[in-house]
Amino acid sequence: MTTLLLATRNLHKVEEIHALLGPGWELLTLRDFPGAPEVVEDAATFAGNAAKKAESLARWVAGRAGARAGGFFVLADDSGLSVDALGGAPGVHSARFAADETGAAGNAPDAANNAKLLRLLAAVPAAERTARFHCVLALTPVPPDAGPTEFFSGACEGLLGLAPRGAAGFGYDPLFLPQGQSLSFAELGAAVKNGISHRARALAQLRARFAS
Ligand code: IMP
Repeated sequence: MTTLLLATRNLHKVEEIHALLGPGWELLTLRDFPGAPEVVEDAATFAGNAAKKAESLARWVAGRAGARAGGFFVLADDSGLSVDALGGAPGVHSARFAADETGAAGNAPDAANNAKLLRLLAAVPAAERTARFHCVLALTPVPPDAGPTEFFSGACEGLLGLAPRGAAGFGYDPLFLPQGQSLSFAELGAAVKNGISHRARALAQLRARFAS
C-alpha cells in the first residue's frame, strides 16, 4: 500500500484529499510528525511552493520515519485563486491576501481575505468577475534522493459573487461560483465540489500515476 504524508496544516485540505483519494492509501499528516518544521512559502509559483514543502518535509522525515516496506511519499498541495480583473491576484498570496496589506505575519482569516477581494472587485461588473482556482500537487519520495519530485495540477473556472454565500468548504469557497452553477462552492457542498474542483482534477492525475 502506498503511504502519503500530507504536507499541510490546513485541515480542510486534508479532509478533501482524504475524501478524493478514497480507500487503498495510508494517509499520514503532520500530526503524525510533531516537530516537523514550518516551510516558508516564498516561491513565485504554485509549483515552486509545492516542491519546497514536499522536498523539505521529505528530507526532514527521511531519518525519522523508520523502515517501510512499500512506497512512502510526501504530498504537498499549493493552491489559490487567480482573479482576471486583478491581473491574476491573489495567486500564490491567496492564504495571506489580507495580511499582505497590514504587514501581519502569517495567513489571514478566510473572512478577511474574502472581504478584501470583495472590496477590490466592488466596481467590477458581474460578467467580468471571472476567476479560477489552481491546485499543484508535488510528490516527493522518502528519502528524496530515491527519485524526482513529480507534479500534478488542476484548475477550476468560475465567477466571483457579490457577497459570501454558504457555510461548507473553506477559503474563498463562499465567493466562488463554479462555471455553469448559480451557487457558490460553499452552498454546493463537498460532494459537488469534489466532483469538479481544482484539487479533484489534480488528484485524479495522481491516482492515474499510481494505477499505471
Ligand atoms: P496554501 O496553503 O498556501 O496552498 O494556501 C491556499 C489558499 O488558497 C487557502 O488558504 C485558500 O485561501 C485558497 N484556496 C485553495 N484551495 C481552495 C479551495 O478549494 N477553496 C477555497 N479556497 C481555496
